[in-house]
Amino acid sequence: MTNRDSRLSNLLHETRQFSPSESFRENANVRDESIYESARQDPEGYWSEQAQNLSWFAPYENVLKWQSPHAEWFSGGKLNAAYNCVDRHRQGPRKNKAAIIWEGEPGDSRVYTYDMLGREVDRAAHMLQDLGVRRGDRVTIYLPMIPELPISLLACAKIGAIHSVVFGGFSSKALRQRIVDADAKVLITADAGWRRGALIALKANADEAVVDTPTETVVVVRRVGAQAGVSMQAGRDVYWHELLVKTPGAPFPAAEMDAEDILFLLYTSGTTGNPKGIVHTTGGYLTVANTSMRTVFDMKDDDIFFCTADIGWVTGHTYIVYGPLSAGATVVMYEGSPDFPGRDRFWDMVEKYGVTILYTAPTSIRTFMKWGAQYPQMHDLRTLRLLGTVGEPINPEAWMWYHEHIGHGRCPIVDTWWQTETGAAIIAPLPGLTVAKPGSATRPVPGIDADVVDEHGQSVAPGHGGYLVIRKPWPSMLRTIWGDDERFRRTYFGQFEGMYVAGDGAHKDADGYVWILGRIDDVINVSGHRIGTMEVESALVSHRAVAEAAVIGRSHDIKGQAITAFVTVKEGIETGDALIAELKQHVTDSIGAMARPEEIIFTAELPKTRSAKIMRRLLRDIAEGRVLGDTTTLADPSVVEALKTQYKESE
Ligand code: WT7
Repeated sequence: MTNRDSRLSNLLHETRQFSPSESFRENANVRDESIYESARQDPEGYWSEQAQNLSWFAPYENVLKWQSPHAEWFSGGKLNAAYNCVDRHRQGPRKNKAAIIWEGEPGDSRVYTYDMLGREVDRAAHMLQDLGVRRGDRVTIYLPMIPELPISLLACAKIGAIHSVVFGGFSSKALRQRIVDADAKVLITADAGWRRGALIALKANADEAVVDTPTETVVVVRRVGAQAGVSMQAGRDVYWHELLVKTPGAPFPAAEMDAEDILFLLYTSGTTGNPKGIVHTTGGYLTVANTSMRTVFDMKDDDIFFCTADIGWVTGHTYIVYGPLSAGATVVMYEGSPDFPGRDRFWDMVEKYGVTILYTAPTSIRTFMKWGAQYPQMHDLRTLRLLGTVGEPINPEAWMWYHEHIGHGRCPIVDTWWQTETGAAIIAPLPGLTVAKPGSATRPVPGIDADVVDEHGQSVAPGHGGYLVIRKPWPSMLRTIWGDDERFRRTYFGQFEGMYVAGDGAHKDADGYVWILGRIDDVINVSGHRIGTMEVESALVSHRAVAEAAVIGRSHDIKGQAITAFVTVKEGIETGDALIAELKQHVTDSIGAMARPEEIIFTAELPKTRSAKIMRRLLRDIAEGRVLGDTTTLADPSVVEALKTQYKESE
C-alpha cells in the first residue's frame, strides 16, 4: 500500500457530516444552491459577472479566448491590481478602515488603514520608478513578513512591473536561480529577519545571490538595524527608508494594464528540472481571488481575516494580499512563528484582534493538537465564525480537533484545494451551503469544471479514483511557465487533450465529493510546501562525497510527508553521523531548511530497473516498513535485501 492507498482506506470509513448552523446559513453570502447549476451552464457568464466586482478603467471585449492550452480572459479590458486592492477603497467609507494589522515577532505592531497603505504604496512605486523600474520589468522580492512585503507587491502592481517573491527561507543559491530565470533588475530585501528571537541573514544571502546576475540595484529594508551587521555595496545597495524620503508625496498614477498583462511570477517545484516560474495575469487572477473571498470565505465588511501563510507562497499572495485587499477586508499579518514567545501565540492574536476568519494549514493544526488544547483554552475565541485549511490533505482527526477546539463546534470549516497554478481556491465548500465531510475538499466551486478521470481521460464513476483534472479554462489559471511554454504544455496539458492535469490523485465519492489523495508525481509535500525530489537529489549529488542519491517522501505525523534520502557515496568516503550532518546542511545551503532531509540512509547501491531507473516505489516501501511489492523488474534483487537491513539499522 502506498501513502495514497492508506489515506484512501481511512477516508472510505469516514461517514461524519457537518452542516452549517441555521444562523450561519441565514447570513451567508451564498445561500442558493442554484449558483452551481447556473455557473455550470454558462461559466463565462458567471465569471464575467464576478469580474464586475472589480474596478475597470476600460471594459473587456471578450470574456474568454481559448486555444488550448492558452487562455485569455477579459482581454482588452484595462485595470490595475493595486488600484483595486487599495485606491478604490480610499475613496469611500473604507478610507480609514484597517487594511493590514501587522504583528511583528518581537512584539511590535503596526496598523495601516487603506488610506495609509495607499500612500505607502505610492511612495514605494515612485521609488521603484526612480530606480528605473518600468512596466513589464521583473522585481525579485526577498523579505520577511513585514509590511514592506505587501507594499512592495502592490507598488510593483501599481507600476505594472512583474513581481517575483522568493520565500525568505530559501537559500542564496535558490534565490539566485530565481533572479536569473526572471532576469530581475531590482531585488528588494531586508537587512535581516526575526525568527524565534534569532536573526535570519537575508541581506547576506542576497549579497551572494546577486553576483553576476542582471540585478543592478538591491533595495534594503532596515528591519533589524545595527545588530544585523550588514555591509552595503556602494552603487548597488540602497536603503528603502533613505530612498523613500526622497520620493514626492504625490499620488502615483495607476498603470492601465491589460487584463492579460502579467501580474506576477511565483516559482514552484516540479517533477524534473529547475523550479517553474508560474505566470499569473492581472484580470483573471484578481477576479477569482476576489470572488473566493465572497463565496468560499463568506467575507463581510466587518470581518477580520487572518491567513497564517507566508507571502512567499501563493497562499499569502492570494489570501493576505490580492483576495482580501481587493475585497476591502481587514487582514492580520504575522511575522513570526506560532510558538514564540508561547504556544498560544495564534490564539492570543485571535483574541487581541478579534479575528473572525482563520485560515491555516493541516500541518499547523496537527502541531497544535500535539501541544494540547490548553493553549487555545487560554483565550477567548468567540469572535471566530469560519475556519479554513489549505496546503495538503487534512486527516479527519485534525479536522475534528480544529472543529472542536478552535471552532467550538460553531464554525464551518472550508478545506480549500488549490495550487500555485490555479491562483485561488477552486475545490472548496461554500460554507453556508455545503455539508462538510472531514477530509474532503468537497466540490469544485461554481464556474470550475474539475473532475476525476481514469488513464483514458474518462470521468470515473462515483466510488472510484484517478487523476484530478480541470476540464475547462478558468480565469486564474496559470498562463504559462516563464520562459518555457513547451514545458507548460507538456506538464499540464500533455496527458489529455485540452484538460489541465493537476498532478494530484483523487477519489470521487457517491455524492460527487472529491477526496484529494496527494501528489502522483515526484513532488513531496512537506508541511504544505512543495519540494521536487529531483531538486533535493541534485543538491545531494553536488556534494563531493556523494555518488548517487534517491529522495522520497515518507508519511510523517506532523509534516504530512518527510524527506528520506538514500545516498551512495564515492569510493573511499567514510560514512557516518558527521557526513549525515554535513549532507543535511548542504541541502539547507543549496535549497533552504524546508528541503533538509529528515533522514539520510547510506547504501552501497540503489534499487534500479534493468533500464537503470531508480525504483522509488521500493524505497518508499522500505522507508514505511511495508511488505515489498513487485520486485521482478529489479536488475539486482539482492540490493533490496541489503537496503532493508541497512534501513533497520539506521533507525
Ligand atoms: C499542492 C499544491 C494552494 C496553496 C498551498 C499549496 C496540495 C493544497 C490541498 C487541500 C489536499 C492540497 C495538493 C496540490 N494541496 N491544498 N486542501 N487538500 N491537498 O500550493 O505549493 O502549489 O501545492 O498542495 O497536492 O497539488 P502549492
